[in-house]
Amino acid sequence: MSAISSLISKKTTSFAGAVKVPGDKSISHRALMFGALAVGETMISGLLEGEDVLCTAEAMRAMGADIEKCSDGLWRVYGVGVGGLKQPEAPLYMGNSGTSTRLLMGLVAGHDIEARFTGDASLSKRPMNRVIKPLEMMGAEFEASEGGRLPLSVKGARDVLAIEYRLPVASAQVKSAVLLAGLNARGTTTVIEDKPTRDHTEKMLRAFGVKVLVEDLEDGAQAIRLLGQQELCPCAVDVPGDPSSAAFPAVAAALIDGAEVRLSRVGVNERRAGLYKTLKEMGADICFEHERVEAGEEVADIVVRGGRPLQGITLDPARVPSMIDEFPALAMAAACAQGTMHMSGLAELRVKESDRLLMVAKGLEACGVSLEMGEDSLTIHGTGKPPRGGATIATALDHRIAMAFLVLGCVSDEPISVDDGSPIQTSFPNFIALMNDLGAAIGPVDA
Ligand code: S3P
Repeated sequence: MSAISSLISKKTTSFAGAVKVPGDKSISHRALMFGALAVGETMISGLLEGEDVLCTAEAMRAMGADIEKCSDGLWRVYGVGVGGLKQPEAPLYMGNSGTSTRLLMGLVAGHDIEARFTGDASLSKRPMNRVIKPLEMMGAEFEASEGGRLPLSVKGARDVLAIEYRLPVASAQVKSAVLLAGLNARGTTTVIEDKPTRDHTEKMLRAFGVKVLVEDLEDGAQAIRLLGQQELCPCAVDVPGDPSSAAFPAVAAALIDGAEVRLSRVGVNERRAGLYKTLKEMGADICFEHERVEAGEEVADIVVRGGRPLQGITLDPARVPSMIDEFPALAMAAACAQGTMHMSGLAELRVKESDRLLMVAKGLEACGVSLEMGEDSLTIHGTGKPPRGGATIATALDHRIAMAFLVLGCVSDEPISVDDGSPIQTSFPNFIALMNDLGAAIGPVDA
């Protein structure tokens, strides 16, 4: 990760313009992985060139794929075919990226190779047993650090067993890890999910010509079935803008009087769009324009106009998976809204890049916001005005904590600083330039 850098965000008086946020992180990881598993050449445009995705590119190279950057966002991948990954010579360094780690653990588990995974201090605290358990059932062997954490080694299965697995947590990463291992199994691998999680793996596998069946079960769950040893056929992937990155300028725009921002060609897959629905219910002026489907993914221009009063609401916990990465941004909006915002079903936030529930609660309290944090809930009491601010926030190697509080600094009475802005490079390398182009005043603390 880049050198530690403290950043400060000062009050923004005007916020307007049309911008393109970087490519979707989830889709970018999958485009590189699936391109590397296809036979032949896959072209990817709009790839997110953040540190997390670059870790995936490096790992796929180390396992035999030929990957080159042609120009900004345009990448060419020559794949090795399912079953064709080679054993990496050195440990695979995953940086801060949980998605790279868990999905690649699935890929290695489905190949007759061994690999060691390492990561930064944040990633080394994150739970991996959730993928180890099903992948062991499929025949892979693991040696993990205490508590099922990184560094860990995987010995892939020689004969991958197709399993049926019901997800114990709503996690697209676990679902994808099992499906990716299942790509090289002899029978049909089934993942059952009780709550719908992001479905980019299913959609993109189909775009690569793989048959993936999705069945609605009587109990309301969904079964995703994949027959192993199908070939992936290369295709062109045009990565849409990341709705999780768009969340930051969108929330800033909703909070700033007179703001008008267009975020062009953002992914609005309904399993990712929970934040936008929620902001609308809180009273924000947000609309999707030019809605269309491109390569199986819904995209739209998101237009946000600021200055409408926001109201705190009680969030339906069933919506949580469709906005799992957006709670830091949403909490900033809730801190400026009128009345109480109650959010529950948030246990997964404790195992993200940081304990996000704690980091959000501590940061907001330091900015003068009244709130209660529960084991898996957060209740924020807004006053209808932006909070005082004037604090330095600990980001704990979490890009979204850093960006969320820099957004709050755009409206708080006193500037807000973050102790380390470098994790922003993992997902949104041009965050400061994009925000400042729209009118924000974010920069190094010493400037
Ligand atoms: C992701 C799934 C989510 C999300 C992460 C990306 C993915 O994680 O938080 O940023 O690309 O599959 P979980 O599967 O742990 O919920």
